[in-house]
Amino acid sequence: MAIERTFSIIKPDATRRNITGKVLSYLEAAGLRVIAQKRIHMTKEQAEGFYAVHKERPFFSDLVTFMTSGPVVVQVLEGEDAIAKNREVMGATNPANAAAGTIRKDFAESIEANSVHGSDAPETAKQEIAYFFKEEEIVG
Ligand code: PPS
Repeated sequence: MAIERTFSIIKPDATRRNITGKVLSYLEAAGLRVIAQKRIHMTKEQAEGFYAVHKERPFFSDLVTFMTSGPVVVQVLEGEDAIAKNREVMGATNPANAAAGTIRKDFAESIEANSVHGSDAPETAKQEIAYFFKEEEIVG
């Protein structure tokens, strides 16, 4: 299995409840290693750009409002099969459908306040990492 990098966000509902360490412990237990991390408060423009692929969806403005409602922790994670592993430990988008032991099952408040984001494919991982990190900020 190849060593991959993926992009992760610990969302405002998790920073608000001061559970970023708890969320991170699930990621680490899944075999993912943090190789870059920073706490930021996204601007509206940053969030709109990041989620541009969803701009025609009915929840777009709610999603942008939520993602700018408080600080987030953006991360680059590395590990074997990191993209799929991260999606697995995150659980389904809607916590009502998330499997036992996943981050969203254990921590998410709703389909909107669902605690984490993770890239869904190698190409998006690359784009999302570059959206928030300079190469020299990533220490593998
Ligand atoms: S997926 O798997 O990325 O295609 O999931 P998807 O269901 O398409 O959701 C994309 C992102 O939108 C968020 N989302 C919502 N936000 C607010 N309200 C509603 N109803 C809603 N439905 C989905 C969802 O959490 C995804 O955010 P990210 O950050 O990509 O995980």
